[in-house]
Amino acid sequence: MASQENLFELRRIERTFALGEARIHALRGIDLDIRRGEFIAIWGPSGSGKSTLLNLLGLIDSADKGSLAFDGQDVAGLSDDALSDCRSRRIGFVFQNFNLIPVLSALDNVSLPLQVQGRRSAETRELAAQWLGRVGLGSFLHHRPDRMSGGQRQRVAIARALAGSPRLLIADEPTANLDSRTSHEVIDLIEALNQETGVTCIFTTHDPRLLARVPRQLRLEDGLISNDAYQEYAQ
Ligand SMILES: Nc1ncnc2c1ncn2[C@@H]1O[C@H](COP(=O)(O)OP(=O)(O)OP(=O)(O)O)[C@@H](O)[C@H]1O
Ligand SMILES: [Mg+2]
Repeated sequence: MASQENLFELRRIERTFALGEARIHALRGIDLDIRRGEFIAIWGPSGSGKSTLLNLLGLIDSADKGSLAFDGQDVAGLSDDALSDCRSRRIGFVFQNFNLIPVLSALDNVSLPLQVQGRRSAETRELAAQWLGRVGLGSFLHHRPDRMSGGQRQRVAIARALAGSPRLLIADEPTANLDSRTSHEVIDLIEALNQETGVTCIFTTHDPRLLARVPRQLRLEDGLISNDAYQEYAQ
């Protein structure tokens, strides 16, 4: 029975991929509890399993072995429809390539997923405008992402991911296409939103320099957690 305090409980999670005749053991037995409201960085070498783990946490992929409980529910028992509903209502995603619709305004990019959830158009536009203000883009509502900087695009993507009030924000290398200063600004923004809203935030990175302000750092190596470190906030 999953504990209510934990957003995730993973037990002996394994994920293997078939590549021709070969089998790639991407995750080799992950045991992990994640409490509600945590801010976590997953880091480690290329190929260590970071994206594979994040895809499991985002309910995009499923494990071959072990159990994963999300929000008090064992996901193995959920239908595809229930998983998809859970993803759209409870999880916000941010990607390294932003995945915005270039020809729509920032406001429309943030409103669209809310409308897909069935909310009224006037309500979604107001909520979207509020969120763009919160990420520092209050004067860019009608700008198109293809005319914005990388840092601004990622802010739009963060507003889009959080506007639906998910329980979880998942970001796979959100700073991979940003310069060092902008990368720090994006992680600082995610940290601030984590503290303000209490949404659980999990991101992956290659860059150990981004870890300084992240209270929990999970290092993956060869499909296993090689280090799970907590630290006080560096003020
Ligand atoms: N769909 C797939 N099919 C086959 N092999 C895969 C697939 N996805 C991942 N792998 C393999 O699983 C292992 C872990 O990959 P993963 O993408 O999780 O690593 P990563 O830590 O995110 O790497 P990077 O830092 O380069 O993004 C790698 O050996 C990779 O080649
Ligand atoms: Mg990856």
